[in-house]
Amino acid sequence: MVLPKYGVGLLSLAGAALAQVTIYGQTPLAQTKTDGSWAAMTTLAAYNDTFLTPPAAPNPAASNNFAIQLTKDAAQVEGISIAHNGPSFYGFSIEMSVITQILGKNSSYLQVPFLNLMANIQERAGGVYVRLGGNTQEFATMVEEGDSRLSPGHTFGKEISGSTQTTLTPAVLYTRDMFYIANNISSLVNVKWFLGIPFNDSVNWRIGIAEEGQQILGTNLVGLQAANEPDFYVTFGRRTAPYTPADYSREIGELIDYMGKSPKITNTKMLIGPSVSGQNDNWHAQDVFATGFLDDYADYLVAITVEHYPNNNCIAMYSPAGTPGAVVPQDVLPDYLNHGKVTDLAGSYTQDANTAVKYNKPFIMFEMNTASCGGFPGISDTFTSTLWALDYGLQMAFQNTTHALLHVGGQNVYYNPFTAPPTNQSAYNEWTIGPIFYSALVIAEAFGKSNTAQIVDRYANEGSANTPAYAIYENGVLSKAALFNYIDDDTGNNDLTVALTVDGGVPSSVSVKYLLAPSINEKRNITWAGQTFGEKFKVDGRLRGDLNVTNIPCDATNNVCRIPVPSPGFALVFFSSSDEQLTISQAPHTFATTAYSKAHNTVQYDPAVVATSNGHNAGLLAQKLGSTSPGALKNGASAGLVSVALTAVVLSFGGAVWTVLSS
Ligand SMILES: *[C@@H]1O[C@H](CO)[C@@H](O)[C@H](O)[C@H]1NC(C)=O
Ligand SMILES: *[C@@H]1O[C@H](CO)[C@@H](O)[C@H](O)[C@H]1NC(C)=O
Ligand SMILES: *[C@@H]1O[C@H](CO)[C@@H](O)[C@H](O)[C@H]1NC(C)=O
Ligand SMILES: *[C@@H]1O[C@H](CO)[C@@H](O)[C@H](O)[C@H]1NC(C)=O
Ligand SMILES: *[C@@H]1O[C@H](CO)[C@@H](O)[C@H](O)[C@H]1NC(C)=O
Ligand SMILES: *[C@@H]1O[C@H](CO)[C@@H](O)[C@H](O)[C@H]1NC(C)=O
Ligand SMILES: *[C@@H]1O[C@H](CO)[C@@H](O)[C@H](O)[C@H]1NC(C)=O
Ligand SMILES: *[C@@H]1O[C@H](CO)[C@@H](O)[C@H](O)[C@H]1NC(C)=O
Repeated sequence: MVLPKYGVGLLSLAGAALAQVTIYGQTPLAQTKTDGSWAAMTTLAAYNDTFLTPPAAPNPAASNNFAIQLTKDAAQVEGISIAHNGPSFYGFSIEMSVITQILGKNSSYLQVPFLNLMANIQERAGGVYVRLGGNTQEFATMVEEGDSRLSPGHTFGKEISGSTQTTLTPAVLYTRDMFYIANNISSLVNVKWFLGIPFNDSVNWRIGIAEEGQQILGTNLVGLQAANEPDFYVTFGRRTAPYTPADYSREIGELIDYMGKSPKITNTKMLIGPSVSGQNDNWHAQDVFATGFLDDYADYLVAITVEHYPNNNCIAMYSPAGTPGAVVPQDVLPDYLNHGKVTDLAGSYTQDANTAVKYNKPFIMFEMNTASCGGFPGISDTFTSTLWALDYGLQMAFQNTTHALLHVGGQNVYYNPFTAPPTNQSAYNEWTIGPIFYSALVIAEAFGKSNTAQIVDRYANEGSANTPAYAIYENGVLSKAALFNYIDDDTGNNDLTVALTVDGGVPSSVSVKYLLAPSINEKRNITWAGQTFGEKFKVDGRLRGDLNVTNIPCDATNNVCRIPVPSPGFALVFFSSSDEQLTISQAPHTFATTAYSKAHNTVQYDPAVVATSNGHNAGLLAQKLGSTSPGALKNGASAGLVSVALTAVVLSFGGAVWTVLSS
């Protein structure tokens, strides 16, 4: 079979109807297929067991005792980033087609693991951005509750729309309840939402999502994406050629006019664009800016955005096994363990980010992950992705990107930060954490809540690709150092000892939190300061184990703190022993997990209980009901309580009683 650069093919897939899919050629695509059928696999991608061979460790060991001279005062640091503020640097981008799995079936059935995961980010950074959208937003259609195309009690449904010529993007049908799901989540955890206006039709605008979103979500809605990768619209048959940056700009003007006429739109000034992928010969953000986009519409934009994946797994995911041209994960593995690659990636957007600085707008990498079309087995789902996304995130922040949203798909992708169990397993399996989620957690902690974090790449160890280091400042003063070791070597020969010196002197000791795994291949046993989210199918969104912060005495006489960094590993060095982030472990406000037994799979909880519950004790509710979380059991609730019929206790403290379930 000859592969066209872009073409349409018909694949017969196990258990699925004949699906029209796009077959992509060599060209990396940012668009991620998130729906319909994927190449048949024996195990769902999210649970795949592929391990790759780590790149050989340098032998003899590379320079592993090096010094970094740090400057105390941010004002003296050349090239330091802007101050990062607002919610956590990493947020999440959730395809509309998986909202049910990730957020909940309807506004009274929310997914507890999602709430707990967001609570853990909030605890560190104050809040989280979540975008509902992706390819599916273009054809998403709001229908009335009870529409016959929805299953009873469901907020979402799908119908194969056949609505594009080149991609199978089932139209997502949703009801008004989607906004209540989002708003109810925001009433429990500080999540702020981005939604996307469908752009498949610029003549008959469908702005229901903007109208209802503004009415129902109020200030929890922070932005409306106007077009998703418009530079691909001709390729995907959403516009006829020529469709230029000027056409896109003109459409934004038309959309603004149209929105201005709707009595249900309270705010026309929360658009987000241009969200170009800037791939290959496609247009780039600067081409859009050159049309006068920013001068004309800056007042209407709340953020400037791009979307980019550094590679793609489209052929392996879409085409029959053996189709030539597929990227071989083993070949590209070293790209994800290399600081130079990360620097170059972020560097492609420095100009755009600095344009945003000039217009005083946030610059958001609106959709990203390790690779589009599901990511790579053995890369996107291992500690490799943890270190990569941590380095890339810090590097983007150094180059003035303000936020980045990690894309989340279904069980059929490798790259998810978190994955709900397949619906027919939700009675007995819990969630699975993706290694990349730890990056979001660690950056949230590294930047904290002061809204003043600035970061600079120290080009450590003579700019080594293996051992990058950053310095982080808060309130204008050095607060932390971030030290990486990408080398996979369990002999200890490549463990680092980094000698940190601070002008003006080091403190008598520093506190260190380590991000560790036995190897870059590790998929589950990843710890952050001693705590972990746990094994496949066992995650309820709460960190387990005891917090372990390492105190390292410094040599004040010689102005040096020697910090060990294992290979592989990452160390976050806190210069202030009173840094509030040092004491943060599991967020105190958590949500008791649902019980995963077929007979009793609902837990009802009252928001008032949640507000007063204590994480380590898994909350009043868990004490009463028991919990399936080993961490919680260890910390209080007794195992015997688990067998108490979970549905027997309905808590009602005067407020609404919420039911939380996992399917
Ligand atoms: C994991 O993914 C690889 C690549 O798609 C595939 O060859 C392998 O069969 C999968 N493993 C399982 C257990 O499904
Ligand atoms: C846009 O999508 C909607 C919903 O799927 C559909 O009804 C409409 O016909 C589409 N418009 C165009 C021009 O494709
Ligand atoms: C939400 O889903 C639950 C579980 O299926 C169902 O019992 C409930 O009636 C649904 N709520 C609404 C408003 O449809
Ligand atoms: C949750 O959603 C329901 C609609 O199903 C709504 O009546 C209720 O007010 C919402 N609660 C909050 C706190 O937003
Ligand atoms: C980030 O913005 C600051 C402030 O405008 C500037 O000094 C710095 O050079 C920018 N960083 C990069 C990598 O361009
Ligand atoms: C769950 O559903 C999938 C796909 O619909 C099916 O292949 C699988 O056999 C089901 N598993 C169980 C345990 O029912
Ligand atoms: C988990 O990883 C740590 C090192 O990071 C190691 O000491 C421990 O033995 C591992 N545990 C398991 C169960 O593999
Ligand atoms: C805490 O972490 C340090 C550094 O990884 C390790 O040496 C120590 O054994 C850990 N302590 C506990 C109690 O796990």
